Amino acid sequence: MELWNRCWAFAKLFLLFLGFLSAGLVKGDCECGYSTNIGGVDGAPKREYVFTDLLETNFLRLNDISANTDWQRQEFNISKDAARGDYGEMFLPAGIEASPAGAKSGDGDDSGLKLVVRSGLVDGMVPVAEIDSYRPDLSFGSFRASMKMTDIPGTCAAFFWYFNDTQEIDMEFLSREFNSSNSTYPVNLVLQSRASLATHDASSTGYFIKANLPFNPTTDFHEYRIDYIHGQVFFYADGAVLAQMNGSAVPTSPGHLVLQHWSNGNALWSGGPPARDAVLTVEYVKAYFNSSLSQRAQDWRGRCRDPYAENAVCDIPSFDGKNSSVRDWFFSGHGNMTNNQTVSNENSGSSLVRRGELVTVMGGFFLASGWVTGLW
Ligand SMILES: *[C@@H]1O[C@H](CO)[C@@H](O)[C@H](O)[C@H]1NC(C)=O
Ligand SMILES: *[C@@H]1O[C@H](CO)[C@@H](O)[C@H](O)[C@H]1NC(C)=O
Ligand SMILES: *[C@@H]1O[C@H](CO)[C@@H](O)[C@H](O)[C@H]1NC(C)=O
Ligand SMILES: *[C@@H]1O[C@H](CO)[C@@H](O)[C@H](O)[C@H]1NC(C)=O
Ligand SMILES: *[C@@H]1O[C@H](CO)[C@@H](O)[C@H](O)[C@H]1NC(C)=O
Ligand SMILES: *[C@@H]1O[C@H](CO)[C@@H](O)[C@H](O)[C@H]1NC(C)=O
Ligand SMILES: *[C@@H]1O[C@H](CO)[C@@H](O)[C@H](O)[C@H]1NC(C)=O
Ligand SMILES: *[C@@H]1O[C@H](CO)[C@@H](O)[C@H](O)[C@H]1NC(C)=O
Ligand SMILES: *[C@@H]1O[C@H](CO)[C@@H](O)[C@H](O)[C@H]1NC(C)=O
Repeated sequence: MELWNRCWAFAKLFLLFLGFLSAGLVKGDCECGYSTNIGGVDGAPKREYVFTDLLETNFLRLNDISANTDWQRQEFNISKDAARGDYGEMFLPAGIEASPAGAKSGDGDDSGLKLVVRSGLVDGMVPVAEIDSYRPDLSFGSFRASMKMTDIPGTCAAFFWYFNDTQEIDMEFLSREFNSSNSTYPVNLVLQSRASLATHDASSTGYFIKANLPFNPTTDFHEYRIDYIHGQVFFYADGAVLAQMNGSAVPTSPGHLVLQHWSNGNALWSGGPPARDAVLTVEYVKAYFNSSLSQRAQDWRGRCRDPYAENAVCDIPSFDGKNSSVRDWFFSGHGNMTNNQTVSNENSGSSLVRRGELVTVMGGFFLASGWVTGLW
């Protein structure tokens, strides 16, 4: 009978272990991805798309950009010939400044990451600023940035997705084109293609649209968005579609995200340099995408056990310019919604939460196994 008891205790232990293991595995929401509806332009149907990975940065909570594991400040120079402007450009980490909310009293609306274009030349170059996502594996996705533009003429603020000079999706804001007396605020939407590379002019390729924003982009933050799916690109401002592009210039490769604020004096594009230091302020970036890495596809297959289970796929809240609680919404701000994602430790505690859960599960298991085997 002694042997029978031991076997029974062992069986209970095994069942308990399986129980704890599965409790650990179903801990997270969104393990099968993040979904959004895309399409619906000119009567075309809207379709739901699911993305497996995310990259979210709330710059209102970022204290130190140099410690962030999602974004890399750029440092390089380009000559005036390479820049095809009157001046060269000096990309400087010093032109990028984190300014979390509440850090300075009374700076309310000015909080966020600042990308500065300086008015004073250094060695014939305009001091400018750029940050890039470390991850280079951003395939199809929905890429969103909340930004406030400068009202000082002479800079180009750009939010773009980049693989190479012929696979690039751009939203470019030229501050010299803003005119508050006639309420004209254009944004230049571009797919850089082989044709635009050949002529250095995208405007003649059919993949260049100058859209007018229905608001003044220099007075408030607004969300600019690029949705890139198979064969199609959609551009948005505050959730409203500005333009759609399809055909041969739509990229086919994975790429990375770039935020840039620059000037090279080219009268046909950025103009400038600006008369005073000019600031582009970024409130957040939220990117939901599929990864091109086989490791990430394998991770997804490992954690997504039933895509039809409740909360296995999470709806991405879409900012419509009104519901400001969507601006404050980050999956990475909720402990169990970014399980197995690579969000930076700087602006979320999710990896600590995961480790904490593991400790709880293991601790519980050993306490309970002691009880089952009659240790206590
Ligand atoms: C995730 O956390 C939320 C609250 O933060 C909770 O409502 C939900 O039940 C949790 N989901 C799982 C699967 O634990
Ligand atoms: C992203 O990957 C998932 C998993 O492979 C797939 O179900 C989904 O359709 C993909 N999304 C797009 C937009 O291709
Ligand atoms: C850029 O140019 C400046 C001024 O000439 C120089 O001090 C700096 O080292 C250069 N930076 C790089 C990355 O080459
Ligand atoms: C960009 O990448 C695509 C796909 O790999 C390639 O066909 C094209 O030649 C590349 N363009 C440049 C400018 O290198
Ligand atoms: C408004 O001003 C811009 C230049 O600042 C000009 O290009 C545009 O044609 C003007 N629009 C109207 C409706 O006057
Ligand atoms: C802005 O628009 C007004 C009205 O159309 C025009 O008179 C003015 O010249 C424009 N300003 C600039 C800088 O183009
Ligand atoms: C391609 O884009 C054009 C212009 O926006 C649009 O009219 C057309 O419906 C699009 N085609 C597809 C297949 O989405
Ligand atoms: C505003 O957005 C939040 C977060 O997504 C959501 O919970 C809430 O229901 C939305 N409110 C309205 C009025 O749509
Ligand atoms: C995701 O989970 C897999 C399997 O547990 C693990 O190998 C991988 O390192 C995890 N990745 C991240 C970013 O947490």
